[in-house]
Amino acid sequence: LSPEARQVKRRQILFLTRKSDVSLQVQLAVQLKDLIQSGQLGAGDPLPSSRELAAELKVSRNTVVYAYERLISEGYLNSRSRSKVFVSDTARELRSAAQRAAQRSKAQQQNSPAVHVPKASYSDGPKPFRPCQPDVQLFPLALWNRLRGRALRTTNRSLLHYNSEAVLGFRPLRENLAAYLRDSRGVVCEWWQIAITTGSQQALYLLANLLLKQGDRVYMENPGYSGAVRAWKSAGATMEHLPIDAQGMVFPALEKAAAALVYVTPSRQFPTGASLSLARRLALVNGAVNTKTWIVEDDYDSEFRYIAPPLPSMQSLDSGNRVIYVGTFSKLLFPSLRLGYAVLPKSLVEPFAELKTIAEDHGPMIDQATLAAFLDSGAFYSHIRRCRKSYAERQQAFLDAIAKGSLPLDFRYRDGGMNLTGFLPESCDDLVWSARLKRAGLDVPALSQYASVATERGLVFGFTAFTPTQIRRGVEKMLSLRLDRPML
Ligand SMILES: Cc1ncc(COP(=O)(O)O)c(C=O)c1O
Repeated sequence: LSPEARQVKRRQILFLTRKSDVSLQVQLAVQLKDLIQSGQLGAGDPLPSSRELAAELKVSRNTVVYAYERLISEGYLNSRSRSKVFVSDTARELRSAAQRAAQRSKAQQQNSPAVHVPKASYSDGPKPFRPCQPDVQLFPLALWNRLRGRALRTTNRSLLHYNSEAVLGFRPLRENLAAYLRDSRGVVCEWWQIAITTGSQQALYLLANLLLKQGDRVYMENPGYSGAVRAWKSAGATMEHLPIDAQGMVFPALEKAAAALVYVTPSRQFPTGASLSLARRLALVNGAVNTKTWIVEDDYDSEFRYIAPPLPSMQSLDSGNRVIYVGTFSKLLFPSLRLGYAVLPKSLVEPFAELKTIAEDHGPMIDQATLAAFLDSGAFYSHIRRCRKSYAERQQAFLDAIAKGSLPLDFRYRDGGMNLTGFLPESCDDLVWSARLKRAGLDVPALSQYASVATERGLVFGFTAFTPTQIRRGVEKMLSLRLDRPML
């Protein structure tokens, strides 16, 4: 073919449009790959120079360079000299491997049982009244990004290396956090006792692996946090579910009924909201010291107290190094940050570090450095104050709106937290109520969903992620359902 005829042919074969969501570079790379895979371009065939093809297709030269580079890195093209690009000799094998893979995945789709595949690639956010959700709109994202940029600049790329010596986290973050926990929660610790984890869930999972063996007994609150139950069960432990009353978890004397580990949310029991009384805290810690039982204290949302500050942590009462204090930044900052921590008794620091090396090494260092700067700058404290104020208003908006109806919901624990549990009389089936709310577009879990053995009935309402207007609308919708009347 004459060069002119080749040009016309290429223009007919390659068609790029600016109206697509797919970039021109990607369109070109995909179309060239199709030509190679379908055999229309064979091994050794030359491609026009990037300048020539860009002029023909009326796109920038960079567009063509990007497409060529991508296909070179995938092995479909090679460049023998600076300007000449050819279809590679391995393109044929790549083509048959790609075809085989396509056939296999089609066959798998037809034959395999249904697998749960998430619909969206990212979340649209929680629906009212999903519990335990912070309002990410309140988070000072622009400041965070500035601190992130600064952290990268001042550490001169050292955060980008493997930082295995920092398996328990970025040291300035651990130092700042130790100071914060000492001042705000009375936690007694040195910075090196703090292990930064990817969310408190990872801390629970690693602790389960470190402290429990098959058949060990774990005391768990009922209703309680299913993430913790899953962690303990993964290590083969058997659960002993303990009831909750107005003073928190009701537990037998550890001296009489031995357990390897007790998991407790003393500041605000999850999900009821009851606070563990001082007398019970002391009994539990003393029992644990006497019997060498581990206590895992999960302090997931104690910063959000609207009336009076919470009692100091249980860890602060522990003279025998039996309490492991676990916390998270998911609620204070934002959940996808996946940063939490465990404050470890000295004897557990090294074994925990060893286990963490196997699980993931040190976690994302850039986020940890940014968080250290966020604490250092004081922005962390202003953010907590701002959230606390908003959340207190939202809690009040919720309670005011609900008081306009006559549902038999008893909100016993109102002094703080991110959720309000409305207890129901036994005659009301909380699972049925929750299902009816779900059909109306509201996300309100039943208290029974958190229970492993029968417990009180109720509904758990999160209010922190929603504006007062959203809250009022949600409550009005709920009241219009007349949940206390049987459906016709
Ligand atoms: C009792 C309890 N602990 C911990 C967490 C936080 O987990 P993570 O730090 O893994 O986000 C939650 C979240 O809902 C929780 O309810």
